[in-house]
Amino acid sequence: GKDGYRHFMEKELHEHPSVIGQTLQRVVDPVTREVVLPELPFALADIPRAVITACGSAYYAGYVARYWLEAEARLPVDIDVASELRYRNPPLTEGGLALLISQSGETADTLAALRGLRASGQHVMSVLNVETSTMARESDVVLGMDAGPEISVASTKAFTAQLSVLAALTIAMGRARGVMTPARQQHLMAALLDLPSEAERIFQLGEQIRAMAHIVAKARDVLYLGRGSCFPIALEGALKLKEISYIHAEAYAAGEMKHGPISLIDDTVPIVAVAPSTILFDKTLSNLQEARARGGKILAFTDETGAERLREIAEAVIVLPHVDAFVAPILYTIPVQMLAYEVALLRGTDVDQPRNLAKSVTVE
Ligand code: F6R
Repeated sequence: GKDGYRHFMEKELHEHPSVIGQTLQRVVDPVTREVVLPELPFALADIPRAVITACGSAYYAGYVARYWLEAEARLPVDIDVASELRYRNPPLTEGGLALLISQSGETADTLAALRGLRASGQHVMSVLNVETSTMARESDVVLGMDAGPEISVASTKAFTAQLSVLAALTIAMGRARGVMTPARQQHLMAALLDLPSEAERIFQLGEQIRAMAHIVAKARDVLYLGRGSCFPIALEGALKLKEISYIHAEAYAAGEMKHGPISLIDDTVPIVAVAPSTILFDKTLSNLQEARARGGKILAFTDETGAERLREIAEAVIVLPHVDAFVAPILYTIPVQMLAYEVALLRGTDVDQPRNLAKSVTVE
Protein backbone atom coordinates (compact mmCIF):
# COMPACT_ATOMS: atom_id res chain seq x y z
CA GLY A 1 0.00 0.00 0.00
CA LYS A 2 0.86 3.67 0.14
CA ASP A 3 1.99 3.56 3.80
CA GLY A 4 -0.01 6.67 4.66
CA TYR A 5 1.26 8.69 1.70
CA ARG A 6 -1.30 10.25 -0.63
CA HIS A 7 0.14 8.71 -3.74
CA PHE A 8 2.60 5.99 -4.67
CA MET A 9 4.71 8.73 -6.20
CA GLU A 10 4.99 10.52 -2.85
CA LYS A 11 5.88 7.27 -1.11
CA GLU A 12 8.46 6.40 -3.76
CA LEU A 13 10.00 9.89 -3.61
CA HIS A 14 10.56 9.32 0.09
CA GLU A 15 12.32 6.05 -0.68
CA HIS A 16 15.16 7.78 -2.57
CA PRO A 17 17.63 7.76 0.37
CA SER A 18 17.07 4.13 1.33
CA VAL A 19 17.06 2.93 -2.28
CA ILE A 20 20.32 4.74 -3.02
CA GLY A 21 21.81 3.19 0.13
CA GLN A 22 20.62 -0.34 -0.61
CA THR A 23 21.73 -0.13 -4.22
CA LEU A 24 25.20 1.04 -3.19
CA GLN A 25 25.44 -1.75 -0.64
CA ARG A 26 25.01 -4.16 -3.46
CA VAL A 27 27.82 -2.78 -5.61
CA VAL A 28 30.32 -1.60 -2.98
CA ASP A 29 32.29 -3.79 -0.60
CA PRO A 30 31.66 -2.32 2.87
CA VAL A 31 35.19 -3.02 4.09
CA THR A 32 37.45 -2.25 1.13
CA ARG A 33 35.05 0.26 -0.48
CA GLU A 34 35.89 -1.32 -3.84
CA VAL A 35 33.19 -1.66 -6.47
CA VAL A 36 31.96 -5.24 -6.73
CA LEU A 37 30.25 -6.14 -9.98
CA PRO A 38 28.77 -9.51 -10.88
CA GLU A 39 31.14 -11.83 -12.72
CA LEU A 40 31.71 -10.43 -16.20
CA PRO A 41 32.27 -12.59 -19.31
CA PHE A 42 34.69 -9.88 -20.57
CA ALA A 43 37.28 -7.57 -19.01
CA LEU A 44 36.33 -3.93 -18.43
CA ALA A 45 39.89 -3.00 -19.39
CA ASP A 46 39.35 -4.44 -22.89
CA ILE A 47 36.25 -2.37 -23.68
CA PRO A 48 37.14 0.06 -26.48
CA ARG A 49 33.93 2.13 -26.31
CA ALA A 50 30.36 2.08 -25.10
CA VAL A 51 26.98 2.74 -26.59
CA ILE A 52 24.26 3.62 -24.10
CA THR A 53 20.58 3.37 -24.91
CA ALA A 54 17.24 3.53 -23.09
CA CYS A 55 13.92 5.43 -23.18
CA GLY A 56 12.49 8.32 -21.19
CA SER A 57 13.89 8.82 -17.71
CA ALA A 58 16.14 5.77 -18.05
CA TYR A 59 17.70 7.50 -21.07
CA TYR A 60 18.44 10.56 -18.92
CA ALA A 61 20.17 8.31 -16.38
CA GLY A 62 22.28 7.01 -19.26
CA TYR A 63 22.95 10.59 -20.35
CA VAL A 64 24.45 11.36 -16.92
CA ALA A 65 26.54 8.20 -17.22
CA ARG A 66 27.91 9.45 -20.52
CA TYR A 67 29.35 12.53 -18.77
CA TRP A 68 30.75 10.34 -15.99
CA LEU A 69 32.30 7.63 -18.17
CA GLU A 70 33.90 10.14 -20.50
CA ALA A 71 35.31 12.38 -17.79
CA GLU A 72 36.25 9.86 -15.10
CA ALA A 73 36.97 6.69 -17.10
CA ARG A 74 38.05 8.36 -20.40
CA LEU A 75 35.80 5.92 -22.25
CA PRO A 76 34.36 7.02 -25.60
CA VAL A 77 30.56 6.86 -25.33
CA ASP A 78 27.74 7.18 -27.82
CA ILE A 79 24.21 7.57 -26.53
CA ASP A 80 20.79 7.71 -28.12
CA VAL A 81 17.18 6.96 -27.31
CA ALA A 82 16.42 3.33 -28.13
CA SER A 83 13.68 4.21 -30.64
CA GLU A 84 16.31 5.97 -32.75
CA LEU A 85 19.33 3.80 -32.06
CA ARG A 86 17.57 0.62 -33.14
CA TYR A 87 17.06 2.03 -36.65
CA ARG A 88 20.27 4.05 -36.95
CA ASN A 89 22.54 1.21 -37.95
CA PRO A 90 25.67 2.88 -36.52
CA PRO A 91 29.08 1.34 -37.26
CA LEU A 92 30.16 -0.42 -34.06
CA THR A 93 33.48 -1.85 -32.96
CA GLU A 94 33.29 -5.58 -32.20
CA GLY A 95 33.65 -6.17 -28.47
CA GLY A 96 32.25 -2.78 -27.46
CA LEU A 97 29.97 -2.38 -24.50
CA ALA A 98 26.22 -1.97 -24.98
CA LEU A 99 24.81 -0.43 -21.83
CA LEU A 100 21.04 -0.71 -21.60
CA ILE A 101 19.02 0.91 -18.84
CA SER A 102 15.44 0.01 -17.97
CA GLN A 103 13.35 -0.07 -14.82
CA SER A 104 10.94 -2.68 -16.18
CA GLY A 105 13.28 -4.59 -18.48
CA GLU A 106 10.34 -4.89 -20.88
CA THR A 107 10.38 -1.64 -22.86
CA ALA A 108 9.89 -2.65 -26.51
CA ASP A 109 12.34 -0.23 -28.11
CA THR A 110 15.05 -0.85 -25.52
CA LEU A 111 14.67 -4.61 -25.94
CA ALA A 112 14.85 -4.30 -29.73
CA ALA A 113 17.96 -2.14 -29.40
CA LEU A 114 19.48 -4.75 -27.10
CA ARG A 115 18.93 -7.48 -29.69
CA GLY A 116 20.40 -5.33 -32.46
CA LEU A 117 23.45 -4.45 -30.39
CA ARG A 118 24.03 -8.08 -29.47
CA ALA A 119 23.79 -9.04 -33.15
CA SER A 120 26.51 -6.50 -33.92
CA GLY A 121 28.96 -8.08 -31.52
CA GLN A 122 28.54 -5.89 -28.44
CA HIS A 123 28.79 -7.16 -24.87
CA VAL A 124 25.35 -6.52 -23.43
CA MET A 125 25.22 -5.07 -19.91
CA SER A 126 21.82 -4.02 -18.58
CA VAL A 127 20.94 -1.92 -15.55
CA LEU A 128 17.53 -3.27 -14.53
CA ASN A 129 15.13 -3.13 -11.64
CA VAL A 130 13.21 -6.28 -12.62
CA GLU A 131 15.75 -9.08 -12.72
CA THR A 132 13.27 -11.64 -14.04
CA SER A 133 12.49 -9.46 -17.07
CA THR A 134 12.98 -10.24 -20.75
CA MET A 135 15.96 -7.91 -20.97
CA ALA A 136 17.58 -9.65 -17.99
CA ARG A 137 17.33 -13.00 -19.78
CA GLU A 138 18.88 -11.61 -22.94
CA SER A 139 21.80 -9.74 -21.36
CA ASP A 140 25.37 -10.96 -20.78
CA VAL A 141 25.44 -9.17 -17.44
CA VAL A 142 22.69 -7.65 -15.34
CA LEU A 143 23.52 -4.91 -12.88
CA GLY A 144 20.58 -4.99 -10.52
CA MET A 145 19.36 -2.15 -8.37
CA ASP A 146 17.48 -2.46 -5.16
CA ALA A 147 14.71 -0.01 -5.91
CA GLY A 148 11.86 -2.40 -5.12
CA PRO A 149 8.60 -2.27 -7.09
CA GLU A 150 7.87 1.14 -8.58
CA ILE A 151 4.10 1.60 -8.86
CA SER A 152 3.80 5.25 -9.83
CA VAL A 153 3.84 5.56 -13.62
CA ALA A 154 6.30 8.43 -13.29
CA SER A 155 9.69 6.97 -12.42
CA THR A 156 11.34 8.32 -9.26
CA LYS A 157 13.44 6.03 -7.08
CA ALA A 158 14.40 3.75 -9.98
CA PHE A 159 16.13 6.74 -11.54
CA THR A 160 18.43 7.47 -8.58
CA ALA A 161 19.06 3.73 -8.21
CA GLN A 162 20.09 3.56 -11.88
CA LEU A 163 22.42 6.51 -11.32
CA SER A 164 23.92 4.88 -8.23
CA VAL A 165 24.75 1.73 -10.20
CA LEU A 166 26.13 3.74 -13.11
CA ALA A 167 28.31 5.81 -10.77
CA ALA A 168 29.79 2.63 -9.32
CA LEU A 169 30.32 1.26 -12.83
CA THR A 170 32.13 4.49 -13.74
CA ILE A 171 34.53 4.03 -10.83
CA ALA A 172 35.14 0.39 -11.75
CA MET A 173 35.72 1.38 -15.37
CA GLY A 174 38.06 4.22 -14.45
CA ARG A 175 40.15 1.89 -12.30
CA ALA A 176 40.14 -0.94 -14.85
CA ARG A 177 41.30 1.41 -17.59
CA GLY A 178 44.07 2.74 -15.36
CA VAL A 179 42.95 6.34 -15.68
CA MET A 180 41.55 6.89 -12.17
CA THR A 181 43.96 7.20 -9.27
CA PRO A 182 43.22 5.39 -6.00
CA ALA A 183 42.87 8.83 -4.39
CA ARG A 184 40.26 9.86 -6.95
CA GLN A 185 38.47 6.54 -6.49
CA GLN A 186 38.31 7.06 -2.72
CA HIS A 187 37.15 10.62 -3.12
CA LEU A 188 34.30 9.68 -5.48
CA MET A 189 33.33 6.67 -3.38
CA ALA A 190 33.16 8.79 -0.22
CA ALA A 191 30.87 11.25 -2.02
CA LEU A 192 28.64 8.38 -3.18
CA LEU A 193 28.42 6.75 0.23
CA ASP A 194 27.43 10.07 1.82
CA LEU A 195 24.47 10.40 -0.50
CA PRO A 196 21.80 8.55 1.51
CA SER A 197 22.22 10.94 4.46
CA GLU A 198 22.47 14.03 2.21
CA ALA A 199 19.35 12.85 0.37
CA GLU A 200 17.47 12.53 3.63
CA ARG A 201 18.00 16.25 4.24
CA ILE A 202 16.14 17.15 1.04
CA PHE A 203 12.79 16.40 2.70
CA GLN A 204 13.30 19.33 5.07
CA LEU A 205 12.89 21.52 1.98
CA GLY A 206 9.29 20.41 1.35
CA GLU A 207 7.76 23.75 2.33
CA GLN A 208 10.10 25.69 0.03
CA ILE A 209 9.49 23.31 -2.83
CA ARG A 210 5.73 23.75 -2.35
CA ALA A 211 6.17 27.54 -2.49
CA MET A 212 8.09 27.16 -5.75
CA ALA A 213 5.36 24.85 -7.04
CA HIS A 214 2.79 27.65 -6.65
CA ILE A 215 4.76 29.75 -9.14
CA VAL A 216 5.21 26.87 -11.60
CA ALA A 217 1.57 25.77 -11.35
CA LYS A 218 0.39 29.10 -12.80
CA ALA A 219 2.60 28.87 -15.87
CA ARG A 220 1.72 27.63 -19.31
CA ASP A 221 5.33 26.96 -20.28
CA VAL A 222 8.38 26.29 -18.14
CA LEU A 223 12.06 26.13 -19.10
CA TYR A 224 14.57 23.95 -17.27
CA LEU A 225 18.27 24.72 -17.59
CA GLY A 226 21.34 22.80 -16.57
CA ARG A 227 24.89 22.18 -17.69
CA GLY A 228 27.24 19.22 -17.70
CA SER A 229 26.02 16.17 -15.83
CA CYS A 230 23.12 18.24 -14.44
CA PHE A 231 21.78 18.97 -17.93
CA PRO A 232 20.13 15.51 -17.99
CA ILE A 233 18.56 16.40 -14.62
CA ALA A 234 17.00 19.46 -16.24
CA LEU A 235 15.66 17.10 -18.93
CA GLU A 236 14.31 14.78 -16.23
CA GLY A 237 12.64 17.71 -14.45
CA ALA A 238 10.95 18.90 -17.63
CA LEU A 239 9.77 15.39 -18.52
CA LYS A 240 8.35 14.80 -15.07
CA LEU A 241 6.53 18.13 -15.07
CA LYS A 242 4.97 17.46 -18.49
CA GLU A 243 4.11 13.91 -17.57
CA ILE A 244 2.19 14.49 -14.34
CA SER A 245 1.11 18.16 -14.32
CA TYR A 246 0.43 18.51 -18.09
CA ILE A 247 2.31 21.82 -18.13
CA HIS A 248 4.52 22.29 -21.16
CA ALA A 249 8.17 22.23 -20.18
CA GLU A 250 11.43 22.08 -22.12
CA ALA A 251 14.95 21.60 -20.94
CA TYR A 252 17.98 23.18 -22.54
CA ALA A 253 21.66 22.99 -21.95
CA ALA A 254 22.02 26.50 -20.49
CA GLY A 255 24.53 27.53 -23.16
CA GLU A 256 21.97 26.88 -25.91
CA MET A 257 19.58 29.58 -24.66
CA LYS A 258 20.99 32.32 -26.83
CA HIS A 259 20.70 30.12 -29.92
CA GLY A 260 16.93 30.32 -29.98
CA PRO A 261 14.90 29.58 -26.87
CA ILE A 262 15.69 32.94 -25.24
CA SER A 263 13.13 34.49 -27.59
CA LEU A 264 10.42 32.61 -25.68
CA ILE A 265 11.23 34.31 -22.41
CA ASP A 266 8.97 36.87 -20.81
CA ASP A 267 7.61 37.30 -17.31
CA THR A 268 5.15 34.41 -17.76
CA VAL A 269 7.86 31.76 -18.26
CA PRO A 270 9.49 30.43 -15.09
CA ILE A 271 13.02 29.13 -15.57
CA VAL A 272 14.03 26.29 -13.30
CA ALA A 273 17.81 26.16 -12.92
CA VAL A 274 19.58 23.00 -11.80
CA ALA A 275 22.74 24.76 -10.72
CA PRO A 276 25.13 23.32 -8.14
CA SER A 277 28.30 25.39 -7.67
CA THR A 278 30.55 23.32 -9.94
CA ILE A 279 33.16 24.66 -12.36
CA LEU A 280 30.31 25.41 -14.78
CA PHE A 281 28.39 27.57 -12.31
CA ASP A 282 29.60 30.95 -13.61
CA LYS A 283 28.59 30.00 -17.14
CA THR A 284 25.12 29.01 -15.99
CA LEU A 285 24.85 32.19 -13.92
CA SER A 286 25.52 34.39 -16.92
CA ASN A 287 22.89 32.47 -18.93
CA LEU A 288 20.42 33.04 -16.09
CA GLN A 289 21.28 36.76 -15.93
CA GLU A 290 20.43 37.03 -19.62
CA ALA A 291 17.11 35.29 -19.02
CA ARG A 292 16.41 37.53 -16.01
CA ALA A 293 17.10 40.63 -18.11
CA ARG A 294 14.23 39.53 -20.37
CA GLY A 295 11.81 39.24 -17.49
CA GLY A 296 12.21 35.50 -16.85
CA LYS A 297 11.50 34.36 -13.30
CA ILE A 298 14.44 32.31 -12.08
CA LEU A 299 13.70 29.41 -9.74
CA ALA A 300 17.00 27.87 -8.69
CA PHE A 301 18.19 24.68 -7.08
CA THR A 302 21.74 25.26 -5.87
CA ASP A 303 23.98 25.03 -2.80
CA GLU A 304 25.00 27.73 -0.32
CA THR A 305 27.90 28.97 -2.49
CA GLY A 306 25.64 29.21 -5.52
CA ALA A 307 22.85 30.82 -3.55
CA GLU A 308 25.04 33.79 -2.62
CA ARG A 309 25.31 34.66 -6.30
CA LEU A 310 21.78 33.69 -7.34
CA ARG A 311 19.73 35.42 -4.68
CA GLU A 312 19.83 38.83 -6.37
CA ILE A 313 18.46 37.57 -9.68
CA ALA A 314 16.21 34.72 -8.58
CA GLU A 315 12.58 34.72 -7.50
CA ALA A 316 13.17 31.59 -5.42
CA VAL A 317 16.36 29.82 -4.40
CA ILE A 318 16.35 26.39 -2.81
CA VAL A 319 19.61 25.57 -1.06
CA LEU A 320 20.69 21.93 -1.14
CA PRO A 321 23.53 20.38 0.84
CA HIS A 322 26.88 20.95 -0.82
CA VAL A 323 28.06 17.71 -2.45
CA ASP A 324 30.85 16.76 -4.83
CA ALA A 325 30.03 17.61 -8.46
CA PHE A 326 30.22 13.89 -9.32
CA VAL A 327 27.14 13.03 -7.25
CA ALA A 328 25.24 16.32 -7.71
CA PRO A 329 23.01 14.89 -10.48
CA ILE A 330 21.82 12.19 -8.09
CA LEU A 331 21.03 14.58 -5.24
CA TYR A 332 19.44 17.27 -7.46
CA THR A 333 17.05 14.73 -9.00
CA ILE A 334 15.12 14.50 -5.74
CA PRO A 335 13.92 18.11 -5.36
CA VAL A 336 13.36 18.40 -9.11
CA GLN A 337 11.02 15.38 -9.02
CA MET A 338 9.39 16.68 -5.83
CA LEU A 339 8.65 19.97 -7.58
CA ALA A 340 6.79 18.15 -10.36
CA TYR A 341 4.84 16.20 -7.76
CA GLU A 342 3.80 19.35 -5.87
CA VAL A 343 2.76 21.09 -9.09
CA ALA A 344 0.66 18.08 -10.07
CA LEU A 345 -1.07 18.20 -6.68
CA LEU A 346 -1.90 21.87 -7.21
CA ARG A 347 -3.23 21.12 -10.68
CA GLY A 348 -5.32 18.25 -9.37
CA THR A 349 -4.14 15.68 -11.90
CA ASP A 350 -4.13 11.91 -11.45
CA VAL A 351 -0.54 11.80 -10.17
CA ASP A 352 0.03 8.05 -10.13
CA GLN A 353 -1.83 7.35 -13.37
CA PRO A 354 -1.27 10.29 -15.71
CA ARG A 355 -3.49 10.29 -18.80
CA ASN A 356 -2.36 8.44 -21.93
CA LEU A 357 0.58 6.73 -20.21
CA ALA A 358 1.40 3.16 -19.22
CA LYS A 359 4.00 2.05 -16.70
CA SER A 360 5.65 -0.30 -19.09
CA VAL A 361 5.74 0.52 -22.81
CA THR A 362 5.80 -2.92 -24.38
CA VAL A 363 4.67 -1.80 -27.83
CA GLU A 364 6.73 0.29 -30.19
C1 F6R B 1 9.16 8.85 -16.91
C2 F6R B 1 9.05 7.40 -17.13
C3 F6R B 1 9.36 6.85 -18.48
C4 F6R B 1 10.25 5.60 -18.37
C5 F6R B 1 10.45 4.97 -19.76
C6 F6R B 1 11.38 3.79 -19.71
O1 F6R B 1 8.79 9.20 -15.62
O2 F6R B 1 8.73 6.68 -16.22
O3 F6R B 1 9.96 7.82 -19.29
O4 F6R B 1 11.47 5.97 -17.79
O5 F6R B 1 9.20 4.57 -20.27
O6 F6R B 1 10.88 2.74 -18.94
P1 F6R B 1 11.80 1.55 -18.48
O7 F6R B 1 12.81 2.13 -17.56
O8 F6R B 1 10.88 0.57 -17.82
O9 F6R B 1 12.45 0.98 -19.71
